[in-house]
Amino acid sequence: MTDKLAWLDDALRELREKKLYNTIRTIDSPQGAWLTVDGRQTLNFCSNNYLGLANDVRLAQAATDAINRFGVGPGAVRTIAGTMSLHVELEKRLAEFKETEAAIALQSGFSANLAVIPALVGRGDAVFSDELNHASIIDGCRLSRADIIRYGHSDAAALQALLAEKRNQYNRAIIITDGVFSMDGDIAPLPALADLADEFSCMTMVDDAHGEGVMGHGGRGIVHHFNLQGRVDVEVGTMSKAFGVVGGYVAGKAAIVEWLHQRGRPFLFSSAMTVPDTAACLAAVNILKESTQLVDRLWQNTRYFKEKMQALGFDIGRSVTPITPVMLKEEELTQIFSRRLFEEGVFATAIAYPTVPMGQARIRVMISTTHSQQDLDQGLETFARVGRELGVIG
Ligand SMILES: Cc1ncc(COP(=O)(O)O)c(C=O)c1O
Repeated sequence: MTDKLAWLDDALRELREKKLYNTIRTIDSPQGAWLTVDGRQTLNFCSNNYLGLANDVRLAQAATDAINRFGVGPGAVRTIAGTMSLHVELEKRLAEFKETEAAIALQSGFSANLAVIPALVGRGDAVFSDELNHASIIDGCRLSRADIIRYGHSDAAALQALLAEKRNQYNRAIIITDGVFSMDGDIAPLPALADLADEFSCMTMVDDAHGEGVMGHGGRGIVHHFNLQGRVDVEVGTMSKAFGVVGGYVAGKAAIVEWLHQRGRPFLFSSAMTVPDTAACLAAVNILKESTQLVDRLWQNTRYFKEKMQALGFDIGRSVTPITPVMLKEEELTQIFSRRLFEEGVFATAIAYPTVPMGQARIRVMISTTHSQQDLDQGLETFARVGRELGVIG
């Protein structure tokens, strides 16, 4: 009998040969500025724990209290018996925080994109999608069966031309963009997109996964950053990054949330967020509502690190956020650079093809509130040492 899974060995070998194989490191410590990675103490320049909330005692306490009161599991999908008072409270608080009419919580940011896009568009409709949008947006678009029309990255003029040419061939249309692009740290031209949406009668959606807790007043997100409240129909978010836990949401008009209660497939057919996650997310939203202190510190650290990296002579691309790509361009050099950093006690991942185009490889540094100035200085010194050793800077 032939081995029906033999193709997997070939496929995995091919990944290894092409240096595209994902090696997964194991963390054996709480999330923070320092991590125990594969048994080594390393400075953490990798995680999305922007505000340090992943190991915040207030979130841990909220989760523990909720477990003591409600147990751990929701027991069902939201539409059967899984909607607990905690979910309802979280949604109310999220809507207040984002200043939208309503919000709906989902199991992850990925699920949120899979829920909302197919609920808003289908066959005969069109999605105008930035070419660098996140994989979960792409999958949500594919599931919707609407036609997907990609426009050049953040290119409002190109989008306008496409809308002028194609918009009237479709029934409904939506413009979808990441708010902050996760590989480059640049931001979408949201005001221009909102204007085009008005001109061509399109819905608008922004995935603010890397913007909430980071951009706008007190981390209210990219829509606030641009003062566009009420002009973007759908804000998708994740609670796995700045909020420090796991979960996703969609915030916007009450009618959209009501529609997702009826037609959002991950909401209808996948169990609700767990009790501790929901309670911890609620605590995170409350912390952000109360004070801008964590967000302010994140930006202080970001400015400090970026200025020093540029002064050292590194190319940090077009980033305007804490996501700091250190552009090395060549794939092999980037892998070697990341490995040398790790040997020197700094954990910063190499990002290469196919995650970014060939010849655009970079080390992606994620700055966090948890970094002390001493941590940042240590990271900078290590970057400078390895950069000189490998001839990247003079
Ligand atoms: C832009 C964007 N959208 C969605 C997601 C998915 O979020 P989650 O981890 O909550 O599924 C991510 C996470 O990588 C992201 O960067």
